[in-house]
Amino acid sequence: MKKFRFRCMNCSRLYEENDVEYTCPQCGTRLGTLETLYDFDNISIKKSDFDSCSDIWQFEALLPVSAKSFRVNLKIGTTPLYRFENLSGVKEVQIKYDGTTPTASFKDRATVIAVNRAVEKNYSSIYCASTGNAAASLAGLSAAAGLKAYIFIPSKAPAAKIAQLMVYNAMILAIDSDYDTAFDLSMKIGEEKNWYCRNSAVNPYLIEGKKTAAMEICVQTEFDPPDTVVVPVGDGTVISSFYKGFSDFYNAGIIKKIPQLIGVQASGANSLELAFKKGEPFWPVDFSGKTIADSINVGKPRDFLKACTYIKKSKGDLISVTDDEILSAQKELASSTGIFSEPAGAASYAALKKLVHENRIEKSSRVCLAVTGNGLKDISAVSSCKTVEHLKPDVQDIKEYLDFKETYGDESYDEN
Ligand SMILES: Cc1ncc(COP(=O)(O)O)c(C=O)c1O
Ligand SMILES: [Zn+2]
Repeated sequence: MKKFRFRCMNCSRLYEENDVEYTCPQCGTRLGTLETLYDFDNISIKKSDFDSCSDIWQFEALLPVSAKSFRVNLKIGTTPLYRFENLSGVKEVQIKYDGTTPTASFKDRATVIAVNRAVEKNYSSIYCASTGNAAASLAGLSAAAGLKAYIFIPSKAPAAKIAQLMVYNAMILAIDSDYDTAFDLSMKIGEEKNWYCRNSAVNPYLIEGKKTAAMEICVQTEFDPPDTVVVPVGDGTVISSFYKGFSDFYNAGIIKKIPQLIGVQASGANSLELAFKKGEPFWPVDFSGKTIADSINVGKPRDFLKACTYIKKSKGDLISVTDDEILSAQKELASSTGIFSEPAGAASYAALKKLVHENRIEKSSRVCLAVTGNGLKDISAVSSCKTVEHLKPDVQDIKEYLDFKETYGDESYDEN
């Protein structure tokens, strides 16, 4: 057997690397998503191969592309794993913070693999549809690799994410629609133009890059991963990638257990939670979502089958939190830990608070929260937090203001 092959999530047909590029031809793009199976009998890796400084290529033995075609001179991988005692009353809370990557979200892990694959296959153009982060990531890493990026995004995507597309000089196709419609349009046009496709779920290589976050958690915990990992969910690829990373390491004999995975969605866009609750055989429950957490505002989750299957295998669950819970978690996370997450990333902290409140998590357990994007990506979400009062450039006025605030807290200041 070659280093890896693909298996269809729906019909279990096996494919060799060159037989198929995206999804199972028998089952189509929605059901026929592929998982990558490695020949563990012929892969020899050991704990000492890994460290907490190297980039994602330290996991090359378990990646489907070669580091040799790497054209992106930016460091991707080994983001911080912070530890907190008694956050929300839980003994050990870890935060895997991916707001520090080159384009400031988790998505760079997938994009670097997609860019490598595109280079290996001699493509000069690459496209994706995205709520914003995959877009920014593809624009940035394509700029680094010398590829032309075509980006389909909802025209209402946060301004900072669109600014990233502009500065990286991508072709911006800002569609007056939601993400789900932009996705379908991108597939039609991208296929016709024969651009390489970096669309979630459809491209099986992406999850293989994303899984490196789980592998890093193993390395950063001296191969004793947490009991539970909480992950924000839109299409479902990110949470699937956590399972894949842990299970590949488990199958390679590097770790002894696979953590339970809890997916969190916004209650206004919880179609994956609904599909999961209906049980097997898993089937999509699509509807047009609405949430302030733009990155997880997905109504037609493309990786529903993989996400539901893997969450179930991990003995995990999917839950949802309201926009108010997300916004207050975002503020509390920033003010109590110094980590400024975009709303989608803060959903994992909102979920932790909810799970603790409902006694659904052991207080003595070790929990890791995936905080997947930087707060500066969407400052409009926090602009409602607090009004900034303007002061005269006068020592006396400033001191009076300080006295007032120290006495009355957040009450608004009337200088008269
Ligand atoms: C910051 C952030 N968190 C979580 C997600 C959810 O990932 P997925 O759509 O693969 O479930 C995304 C996806 O865009 C994201 O940008
Ligand atoms: Zn199939």
